[in-house]
Amino acid sequence: MALCFAVCPQGFVKAENIFINTPKTTLMLTANEGGTPRIHYYGSRITPAQGHEVLDAMSINYDAYPAFGRNSFDETALSVTHADGNMTTELAITGTRTEGDLTIISLKDKAYEFYVDLYYKANDKSDVIETWTVIRNGEKKPIRLEQYASGVMTFRQEGAWITHFHGAWGQEARMTEEPLSAGLKTIVNHDGVRAGMDDRAEVMISLDGKPQENSGRVVGAALCWTGNYKIRLDTRGLYRHTLIAGIDDLHTAYTLKPGETFQTPELALAYSTEGKGGVSRAFHRWGRAGKLHNGRGLRDILLNSWEGVYMNVNQEVCEQMMDGVKELGGELFVVDDGWFGRKYRRTDDTQGLGDWITDTEKLPNGVPALLKAAEDRGLKFGIWIEPEMTNSKSELFEDHPDWVVAHPTRELSKGRGGTQLVLDMSNPKVQDFVVGIVDNLVKENPHLYYIKWDCNMSMNNFGSSYLTADKQSHLFVDFHLGLRKALERIRAAHPNLVIQLCSSGGGRVNWGFLPYFDEFWCSDNTDAQQRLFIQWGTSHFFPTMAMAQHVSASPNHQTGRIIPLKFRFDVAMTGRLGMEMKPSDLNDREREYAKQAVAFYKEIRPVIQLGDQYRLLSPYEGNGFCSEMFVNEDKSEAVFFCYKFENYVGLQTPRWHMAGLDPDATYQLTEFGSTERQHYFEGKNFSGRFLMETGFDANLSGQFGSRVIRLRKV
Ligand code: DGJ
Repeated sequence: MALCFAVCPQGFVKAENIFINTPKTTLMLTANEGGTPRIHYYGSRITPAQGHEVLDAMSINYDAYPAFGRNSFDETALSVTHADGNMTTELAITGTRTEGDLTIISLKDKAYEFYVDLYYKANDKSDVIETWTVIRNGEKKPIRLEQYASGVMTFRQEGAWITHFHGAWGQEARMTEEPLSAGLKTIVNHDGVRAGMDDRAEVMISLDGKPQENSGRVVGAALCWTGNYKIRLDTRGLYRHTLIAGIDDLHTAYTLKPGETFQTPELALAYSTEGKGGVSRAFHRWGRAGKLHNGRGLRDILLNSWEGVYMNVNQEVCEQMMDGVKELGGELFVVDDGWFGRKYRRTDDTQGLGDWITDTEKLPNGVPALLKAAEDRGLKFGIWIEPEMTNSKSELFEDHPDWVVAHPTRELSKGRGGTQLVLDMSNPKVQDFVVGIVDNLVKENPHLYYIKWDCNMSMNNFGSSYLTADKQSHLFVDFHLGLRKALERIRAAHPNLVIQLCSSGGGRVNWGFLPYFDEFWCSDNTDAQQRLFIQWGTSHFFPTMAMAQHVSASPNHQTGRIIPLKFRFDVAMTGRLGMEMKPSDLNDREREYAKQAVAFYKEIRPVIQLGDQYRLLSPYEGNGFCSEMFVNEDKSEAVFFCYKFENYVGLQTPRWHMAGLDPDATYQLTEFGSTERQHYFEGKNFSGRFLMETGFDANLSGQFGSRVIRLRKV
């Protein structure tokens, strides 16, 4: 970043133009002392000398953090009731400073001891800028924050479009793209617990009309918050679109005592001239460069027991599955739900959550014996837990009825199994309990490698026995601050444990979680056709190395659809490959194919998990076809995938075009797992330019045709 400034007392600089730079982008603000910070430009990188172009063009000039005060006719980011009851706030800049990659603009209310610091973090490894605020009450009595957004971004462009994601169980991350028309568009989550359920907290704004994958100016915004949020897009005269994102302002008024501060979650922004794909690749790189836990390490190929045996786990059946996955070349076995419960055995979903004691009827020698069985076979071992939950039929609930989210005057509304309840994570004792679950598992099983952390309920009740009466409105926030404290303790103690984020499938997919998790389960829907859509949407903001994608049985358990094994593998291979079945259900031919597919995935894994992703032909627009590809950093290797999921006479296979290759390089093509007839490209050479510009024909036969073409620079 660069500040154009004059030095003034108290270590502050009196800033004029502020340039927050990433390798390819600049966010330009002005911050004149006594005034308000203004957003002027967010786009391709410019030099400070070019700042005058931005100001002379008068394109944008918008308050970077509008507070409700006088003349507040637009949407606001901040609304405060001060100690004397005054609901208006008037912030003025007191200084600006830089600390490493941070730029901090300090503001103070003109009449009150009320302070706000705006933070902007410029990443030098990816084109992502993070912004958040720290709010401090310097008044003599408590104040109430009614609205406290993380950040603001504004654009002026006619014909802009929005891309956003929504859905439900089994159909996560459904993509909608629409013109941004006049008025207020709001994207919210009110689940209380699962920030990725229904609407997702990530949007893209395409400034050059209908969103394109690999061309056009696009801004991406992701709110990194694990709880209820609100993203507003206010479109007004002169094609001005203002995005304000933050913690939801419904039922979340937050009291700050004198001297207390509140830090909002980060809003992450990326800008690209290479279309939505450019924004996605910026977010993926940001994740791999550190936002995602262990963003640099390759992920293992695993077998998860859920769709294989559901809750009917026991030593024998698990060992059979271990033998199966080992034979296929897998690296990790994960035992899912059903392994625990003493008084209330987890034989179905009506009981046992919270009682993290092995069910010795199913596993007579406990988890250590399961782990040993895995290790004996050269496999790593993982286990499922749902730490923030209990059932009313559990020893935990009998011992601690006051630990659940509820109000004593109200009848309990129960979730899954008619008995599930949410633990009150705002309560430090509950945080200790949750941390203890992981600690105890690791203590008992020092070689435990992986945990699947599930969460299958929304906050059906409201109320906390821990929070005082005047702080009940903190619950939606303090639940998540408590959860974050617990996750921080777990990560401090177990930095190398691989932890999967799961929530009724992809119900918690949000960047607020990912500093603590290595990967997430995209969806409980493992139908490969629907997965094309789920994974397409999810990949807009999340890197493939974090996307758990499993091959499951056919007919599929969720849709009943019959899909060939090759297609199922080809769809699952575009992320972290895994399996979700009993390998013994495969016939000999399928088993042989699965072995080859796993071996092939191991070869392409670094390109898939660490490379750049290029979405090519969208399943939403491809008329029953879809394609994408992955290219490694130095563009010496790539893998291209194409799929067909429609079948009718006269259906024309599109001409395929690649992207992301070195145009001047020659690539040799090889194909994986196709029939002889389809092996047409085997060993043939093409220039990158030809494959991208002119493209090529590759037939896909049948209802579920798919091809995987590997490219290596010669
Ligand atoms: C929901 C998850 O999404 C599934 O994968 C599985 O772990 C079940 N919970 C277990 O109850």
